Amino acid sequence: MDFREKIGELLKKQGIQGDIVLEVPPQPELGDFAFPCFPLAKQFKKAPNAIAADLVLKIGKVDFLEKVVATGPYVNFFVDKPKRTEAVLRDITKRKDTFGSHPIGKGKTIVIDYSQPNVGKPLGIHHLGSTVIGHSLANIHKFLGYNVVGVNYIGDWGTQFGVLLSAYAKWGDEKKLQADPVNYLLSLYVKYSAEEEKDPALHEEAKAWFKRLEDGDPHATKLWTMFRDYNLSTFKRVYKRLEIEFDSFNGEAFVRDKMGPIIDDVKKKGISEEDQGMLIVRMEGDLPPCILRKSDEASTYALRDLAAIKYRFDTYKPDKVLYVVAQQQTLHFIQVFAVAKKLGFDNDKLEHISFGMMRLPDGKMSTRKGKIIFMEDVLDRAVEDVAKIIQDKNPELKDKARVAEQVGIGAVFFAYLMNDRIKDFEFSWDRMLDFEGDTGPYVQYTHARACSVLRKAKEEVSVDANLSVLNAKSEYELVTMLERFPDIVASVLHDYKPHILSQYLLRLSHQFNEFYHDCPIITAENDELRKARLLLCDCARQALQNGLGLLGIASPQEM
Ligand code: ARG
Repeated sequence: MDFREKIGELLKKQGIQGDIVLEVPPQPELGDFAFPCFPLAKQFKKAPNAIAADLVLKIGKVDFLEKVVATGPYVNFFVDKPKRTEAVLRDITKRKDTFGSHPIGKGKTIVIDYSQPNVGKPLGIHHLGSTVIGHSLANIHKFLGYNVVGVNYIGDWGTQFGVLLSAYAKWGDEKKLQADPVNYLLSLYVKYSAEEEKDPALHEEAKAWFKRLEDGDPHATKLWTMFRDYNLSTFKRVYKRLEIEFDSFNGEAFVRDKMGPIIDDVKKKGISEEDQGMLIVRMEGDLPPCILRKSDEASTYALRDLAAIKYRFDTYKPDKVLYVVAQQQTLHFIQVFAVAKKLGFDNDKLEHISFGMMRLPDGKMSTRKGKIIFMEDVLDRAVEDVAKIIQDKNPELKDKARVAEQVGIGAVFFAYLMNDRIKDFEFSWDRMLDFEGDTGPYVQYTHARACSVLRKAKEEVSVDANLSVLNAKSEYELVTMLERFPDIVASVLHDYKPHILSQYLLRLSHQFNEFYHDCPIITAENDELRKARLLLCDCARQALQNGLGLLGIASPQEM
């Protein structure tokens, strides 16, 4: 039990009911934890200051507390420092890679729908958000004992295939397709979109092609398969580089033969209507209706998502399905989840984890207009820049190429994940290629610095070092920072915000560096102190590694 819980127990024994919220006082002079008494005034019919004073008397002397004092309406707890240090560091040395985890998800299954690029378009930097948020949420759920099914619900069906097929029928060239499938299909898409503006008939032709595809026309199917296969292999190349693995690539096409039962069911339950040839489900309030089938019978994105919900519920029996998808699709998910509910699915299990828009300094990204930045280009540039810095500063480094890859990718991931996902993200090369200050490489560098101390010490870290000698302020603050790690990890899942962990890792890095500058480790005054500091250094290294790992970022030992 950690100190927070122990104090909670103490307060419960004094008759405090409900959730006990402990604050961390703004100044260390006020103790380690503070319990505010304002909310109790009603229950005890007393002024908060008097309640605080009373509680202090009643609590009396406790073995794990140095002292308990009332400061105005607060009860301030000063924990026994050596005991706390001992508890935190022993926990880390015992748990190692699993430090910070607790099996709160045991027996629960969670499906995470993330990354989801569209076939026919490249993996762009605007896919970074869904990819890294989804990946870190998957990692954290696994770490906390959940059974995770990571689904890359790729966009491999829908009217845009009508565009590609129609464009290919007009101008297609298989040699060009083979040579560079993604760019070639993108160029067809862009060209068609431009022509379509001049000649609206092209719009109808594209619709007709998608209809042929949905009806199982062999020629359309053959071309579609070819587009999909070529594209998927390039997507997979990028995921491999990012070291992201999915449990399933079942995308929109996978459910194309599973839509019938949904249509039958909405009709049977009487929740749909025909409207100008379309099949729709009306929403409550002034929300626009959810369209399940267009007037030419073509299926919609919404219908496919409903079929996917049924498949996921039947197959995985999930406790939760998370959709990590940009904010622009909020209405879509409101509609789909509402129809799912009408169909009898427990839609409390469905959650849209939305994130802000990725913009360019001069406005919106647009595949249609060819205004897009390729994910691979960003990765290449980040890695190249890091390689140059390594060449400059540490040319003797072993495994240079691999470290450059890890740090370059770490910079890109962290630049995104350090922000609250709700906010829009303005893409700039400077932001992606920043390796100093509060960045991923700074955290990675701090980890490598800890590794370097441990290497240079040329002695095993002794797990039973006497920790009572760790009395410096920066040592104790590092310990309390480490103590928070498990709570931080769990709190990411309260509202699915990985930036809570990223921001914590920055604070932990600052704290480690303060300790590193204040307290000589290898050259500590005596053996006892050196051993204790080495252990503390090793614990910080472990927490940084665990935290970066949860964000999908590698922790090289040297850089
Ligand atoms: N492929 C879609 C897009 O690029 C996102 C898919 C999101 N997932 C879902 N189940 N609808 O817009």
